[in-house]
Amino acid sequence: MSQAGPIPDSRHVKPGDSWQTYKRLLAYVKPFWLAFSLAVVGNIIYAAASTGMAAAMEYVIAAIENPTQQNRVLLTGLIVGVFAFRGAGTFMSQYFISYVGRQVINALRGDVFNRLMTLPSRYFDDNAAGRLVSKLTFNVEQVAEASTSAITITLREGLTIIGLLGFMVYTNWKLTLVFLAVGPLIGAVVSYASKRFRKISQRIQGSMGDITHVASESISGYRVVRTFGGEGYEKARFQKVNDKNLKQSLKMASTQAISVPVIQLLVAVAIAALVWTMLAPEIRGEMTTGQLVAFITAAATMAKPIRQVTSVHAKIQKGVAAAYDVFETIDEAPEQDPGTYAPDRVEGKIEFNRVSFRYRDQLDDVLKEISVTIPEGQSVALVGRSGSGKSTLVSLLPRFYEYNSGDILIDGHSLKDFSLKALRAQIALVTQNVVLFNDTIAANIAYGALRDCSREEIREAAAKAHALEFIDRMPDGLDSKIGDNGVMLSGGQRQRLAIARALLKDAPILILDEATSALDTESERNIQQALETVMQGRTTLVIAHRLSTIEKADRILVMDNGRIVESGNHSELLASNGAYAQLHQMQFSEQS
Ligand SMILES: Nc1ncnc2c1ncn2[C@@H]1O[C@H](COP(=O)(O)OP(=O)(O)OP(=O)(O)O)[C@@H](O)[C@H]1O
Ligand SMILES: [Mg+2]
Repeated sequence: MSQAGPIPDSRHVKPGDSWQTYKRLLAYVKPFWLAFSLAVVGNIIYAAASTGMAAAMEYVIAAIENPTQQNRVLLTGLIVGVFAFRGAGTFMSQYFISYVGRQVINALRGDVFNRLMTLPSRYFDDNAAGRLVSKLTFNVEQVAEASTSAITITLREGLTIIGLLGFMVYTNWKLTLVFLAVGPLIGAVVSYASKRFRKISQRIQGSMGDITHVASESISGYRVVRTFGGEGYEKARFQKVNDKNLKQSLKMASTQAISVPVIQLLVAVAIAALVWTMLAPEIRGEMTTGQLVAFITAAATMAKPIRQVTSVHAKIQKGVAAAYDVFETIDEAPEQDPGTYAPDRVEGKIEFNRVSFRYRDQLDDVLKEISVTIPEGQSVALVGRSGSGKSTLVSLLPRFYEYNSGDILIDGHSLKDFSLKALRAQIALVTQNVVLFNDTIAANIAYGALRDCSREEIREAAAKAHALEFIDRMPDGLDSKIGDNGVMLSGGQRQRLAIARALLKDAPILILDEATSALDTESERNIQQALETVMQGRTTLVIAHRLSTIEKADRILVMDNGRIVESGNHSELLASNGAYAQLHQMQFSEQS
């Protein structure tokens, strides 16, 4: 039926296609056009003041040569005034461009995060969590930092150059031409340096992701690392990515460091040539000393803006590389959700109709033509060897993955006809890996759409899951905080919270994947009783290794290598003396 369709072409923007990326970034700036315009005004003020400073040299010299009382006052006023004017420009340009930058970071981050919330399971299988976090933190930050400083430099220094050049041409155009002759040389150096920046900065981003990835893995898995003596291995692994980052950052630094003095030297040569030419009488013409000094000041003042403007390209490239990466995430195709069928509450009849599934096209089928019908309200247990496809089978129900062929129907409606939201509202799921949030126990039980549940309902669910016995012993009861992913709880306690969460949801379809595996026999028996009451009137799929927990199921499906090989209730299956009887025999002998 539906193969995973082709991914939308919007994500095939080549890194070289920078223009596309600029335009998208601009769209993020658009809402803040007012602040942006203020920044532009600030930059104009700054550039005008810088040009004014050079031009003022003429009057400074004149005043020095003719130090009347009036000239003294004028000169002092001029110095303070020009700096104050430029200071106002600096403030405006810096503050408002930062304002725009922070707003863009905020919006971009929000967009990336919101997109992450809609991406299919497959995406998270393919991308390590550390890498994704680094996208949200490092890359997004870099986009705004690089582009705002690029904008500031382009505007401020670009305008300053224009102002100064204008002043120079106005004073003596022949001299200006000499000064400009060196321009193309500078340009050549710049384009070489910026090409290298672009390559290197793209790689540096990758290695930053590696660092967070390796670090977060060893940090969250510190116990395994310590007990299995993995410190050496982790250190070596970290050192490798850390060194790679060092090497690349140094390369970047060296390119940057070399490009600055080379460009400065070129500017110095230009000024030297200028001074030399200037002193030729046919060029100097009628220029006064004051005008000459002002001209040289203007030419010298230009060194810094030129240097900055030439480094702006690298900055832009850095920003574009980061933006490209961020946009790539935003452009990832979200979960397909074309269905519109949204019943309030389904009856719970589930049909698998020759369903086949593979995780990746190049891999083998994990589920092979599964056909089974589960009437509403029935409890079905899935058993079978590890890796036989039990968890995979149940993960198709909330459409975490799209099956490759066949169809799954609930109450006779294909899963594909349901809207994802409505479909998932019908299913309460306790998975093998319990996920808890760093919040109170109550908030963890009444999570997400359940947050409006009353205190009594939460307590009741906790009681049914036999969680109250340990919750009431905690200092703040239901309001106790449980730490990062519930580190302050035992494995069994975590499972009981997960069960309470599922019970509170009160969905017509309940899926328990090894939900009681971490419990001792007594707690398990207690919960078992509770679950039996809960299972009434609900379709339940239970996956368990311990066969004792599933003997009472209406039906047991035995899975092997992606197929259902046996089906029947406990006594039937024992009587038929097949795979189930064998499993049972083995566990029985283990226990005795
Ligand atoms: N995200 C994934 N990407 C690729 N292959 C996967 C993924 N998850 C599981 N598999 C593969 O699919 C097969 C079935 O896995 P599944 O988790 O369904 O087994 P299971 O029956 O639940 O096993 P267990 O009893 O150990 O939980 C395994 O061979 C596994 O390697
Ligand atoms: Mg499993």
